[in-house]
Amino acid sequence: MPTPKIDKSRLPSRHVTEGPARAPHRSYFYAMGISEEEIHQPWVGVATCWNEAAPCNIALSRQAQAVKSGVKSSGGTPREFTTITVTDGIAMGNEGMRSSLASREAIADTVELTMRGHSYDALVGLAGCDKSLPGMMMAMVRLNTPSVFIYGGSILPGRHHGRDVTVQDVFEAVGRHQAGDYSDAELDALERVACPSAGACGGQFTANTMACVSEAIGLALPNSAGAPAPYESRDQYGEASGAAVMTLLERNIRARDIVTRKALENAARVVACTGGSTNAGLHLPAIAHEAGIEFDLFDVCDIFHDTPYFVDLKPGGQFVAKDLYEAGGVPVVMKELRKAGLIHEDCMSATGRTIGEEIDRVEREADGRVIHPVASPITKTGGVVGLKGNLAPDGAIVKVAGIKEEHQVFTGPARVFESEEEAFEAVRARGYSEGDVIVIRNEGPAGGPGMREMLSTTAAISGQGMGKKVALITDGRFSGATRGFCVGHVGPEAAHGGPIALLRDGDMITINAITGELSVDLSDAELEARKADWAGPRETLYSSGALWKYAQLVGSTRKGAVTHPGASGERHVYMDL
Ligand code: FES
Repeated sequence: MPTPKIDKSRLPSRHVTEGPARAPHRSYFYAMGISEEEIHQPWVGVATCWNEAAPCNIALSRQAQAVKSGVKSSGGTPREFTTITVTDGIAMGNEGMRSSLASREAIADTVELTMRGHSYDALVGLAGCDKSLPGMMMAMVRLNTPSVFIYGGSILPGRHHGRDVTVQDVFEAVGRHQAGDYSDAELDALERVACPSAGACGGQFTANTMACVSEAIGLALPNSAGAPAPYESRDQYGEASGAAVMTLLERNIRARDIVTRKALENAARVVACTGGSTNAGLHLPAIAHEAGIEFDLFDVCDIFHDTPYFVDLKPGGQFVAKDLYEAGGVPVVMKELRKAGLIHEDCMSATGRTIGEEIDRVEREADGRVIHPVASPITKTGGVVGLKGNLAPDGAIVKVAGIKEEHQVFTGPARVFESEEEAFEAVRARGYSEGDVIVIRNEGPAGGPGMREMLSTTAAISGQGMGKKVALITDGRFSGATRGFCVGHVGPEAAHGGPIALLRDGDMITINAITGELSVDLSDAELEARKADWAGPRETLYSSGALWKYAQLVGSTRKGAVTHPGASGERHVYMDL
């Protein structure tokens, strides 16, 4: 019998490949053309979130072949499998959006169950859309296998009337079209050119934000997130990721050796300085939870608060992911952060070297266009601010990248809607006034269920030219593509009896992103009296099925809207079984 390069005596795959009792298992492997030598090597799960739902994940299978070749040439046996995915761009603005955040848990669960069920020893995960990135990273940390993450790459920007456009322009054009400001023909022309290739949405929306996180946190190879999906050069990163996971396996460097509290802080820094998506305030705590690390929305917001914002990306800024890649990508961004003393250099990365050692290898400097020098940032604090107050005892989050300081304080009367549909209809019919604070409640993780993103409503407001004239608060979420003064993640959510459930039309709400306040001008006694009269959570249509299960299990937004006890509750580590 050939000698494996890595001793399998303690690896999970020994349970299915070694000894006479495993002869039936080996029969199945021979049936798939796996050689004797390959059977006795370490087994590496190559998980993709491929499906044909949208361009975000469509290029993952191609890239998985490169990963497998990297695993094979480094002495491992790769086995490809896929998870479900729900694509936000398609689910947006309809009931499908309820499946989006729940899909993050389904992806993590699918990877966990596949890895456990087949006793794979290590994991390379490829993902390309908003929830699939954190879902895949959560699975890596949950299993604590040697793991490498690789992003599927972003879409190329479209060109329209001589300028770069993204799907965000199409959402906003719908608002202008509704306002009678944009013709059918113009809309038709724009929708055909806005998304010209495979790949995830091109602005610093949730997918690209989490792709930057994958490098900053150390689970992905440096610069692997940057190249757009259609570029053949992605395959080199795929091969290298396959080889890297074998090195991690050999050195027994596991996901939780990489994802530490300091690594989470590095990741939050990169989100802040790039004006990344507020969804990171949900996904970073969820990844931390898988490692048993307390790192909630407030921890993320504290980092946002003292990180300069110096990378000029859409939706708040001018450039797209491809431009960031051409300017040197996340490695140059982290090099700038290090200059300001804002990076923990001793964190481990997927290369087996520390983050500091990786930054030492970066030759390029900030170009001053896409990546500004940290010493002369676009603004002195991060693009995302945490809020707290009597309307959000469990916190809330608002993106201020691209919003001038004088527009970061807003006081106005509440205009309360019980769902996104109700709000969208009112906005479409111009049933709101300048100065209003639009409140959309019952859209939290449990109450929606599913914590939908409110992009259709915010894009319609923007399209009507009212983005700076109203504010919006919700216990739901926003897409990274949302613009305007929009407060999400208000907790506790309405379904859990949070103060947002008690608001009435006309209550005066103050949002102050400079002092970090979200409050309503009501006394404690009034809030208590309203709570005593509260009729309880609104009934939803989802009284069975996956979304019912999700609504029963899901916890607070502040802690990442997770559905299980996490590492602090575990009694074993998969790799050591
Ligand atoms: Fe998939 Fe935007 S819809 S990345």
